[in-house]
Amino acid sequence: MYTQAIDLPEPPGPLEAGSGPRSAQAAGAGSEAAEQERQQAFDAAIAADEKIEPQDWMPEAYRRTLVRQISQHAHSEVVGMLPEGNWITRAPSLRRKAILLAKVQDEGGHGLYLYSAAETLGVSRDEMIEALLSGKAKYSSIFNYPTLSWADMGCIGWLVDGAAIMNQIPLCRCSYGPYARAMIRICKEESFHQRQGYELMLALCRGTPAQKAMAQEALDRWWWPVVMMFGPSDAESVHSAQTMKWGIKRISNDDLRQKFVDATVPQAELLGLRIPDPDLKWNEERGHYDFGQIDWNELWRVINGDGPCNRERLETRRRAHENGAWVREAALAHARKRAARQRAA
Ligand SMILES: [Fe+2]
Ligand SMILES: [Fe+2]
Repeated sequence: MYTQAIDLPEPPGPLEAGSGPRSAQAAGAGSEAAEQERQQAFDAAIAADEKIEPQDWMPEAYRRTLVRQISQHAHSEVVGMLPEGNWITRAPSLRRKAILLAKVQDEGGHGLYLYSAAETLGVSRDEMIEALLSGKAKYSSIFNYPTLSWADMGCIGWLVDGAAIMNQIPLCRCSYGPYARAMIRICKEESFHQRQGYELMLALCRGTPAQKAMAQEALDRWWWPVVMMFGPSDAESVHSAQTMKWGIKRISNDDLRQKFVDATVPQAELLGLRIPDPDLKWNEERGHYDFGQIDWNELWRVINGDGPCNRERLETRRRAHENGAWVREAALAHARKRAARQRAA
């Protein structure tokens, strides 16, 4: 579903230790002149807006940044299945259940594409999963909020997937080929997610007064956490300048946030819902909506593990991983048998 520009400096861990083919190549670099030549070729490719592919040389810091960002993104997709999965058994109609099932399944697929994209950088899936389950790796703050009513399914599609699209469309032009190509496919599916959410909200807002009140109550809870999804303000973003230079990030956190607010306000008006921000108003001079102060303390609290559902989400993920152990073992045993049969033949 979503990547968040959390931009935290992280201590080097197994994911960042440079155990992959890329760094092995860098370690065996040979002469300084050869090293410089490789750096120049990389810089020229970035300047020409060409894609960097797994077999190309890349600076170690570029590789580490991508591993961190793509794995955080993959974790967000997978953990993002939990708040909505919570409502599959309670969907109010067969049609809504089928839509929600398809959407949650898409998010699982996004996680898998992204783990595969990260693996091309020389990090293993086991290492990434371990980092998630141990609490070391981050995922988007938004999935640490509870889903309390059916209208939350509408708000997540409309707003959370809507914010994801804002963030991910520029990532389709990311300098790293496998990430950019994964994003193109993912964005097409996110667009369906956003529309189904908005359509759900529209149905509630055209329904009974109680349904409309449920929609408003959900918007009241989701609005600020969604605005926070774009990450810390540009002034606080440690890695932003460098990731922009590398062509990984194309638009700053604050600019994306503004684009999102500008696009979403008219949608809320069409629904007849009130955005819970008394400072929200159109600024003729800027040609954008002004909006109120974000509670950054809340964002950091949630990112650092103390949001309403952080423990529950990780606990559920760990349990799912343990319950799936037999499937992984069976798949491995099957692959070994098949390989042995092929060798024998
Ligand atoms: Fe999505
Ligand atoms: Fe997704």
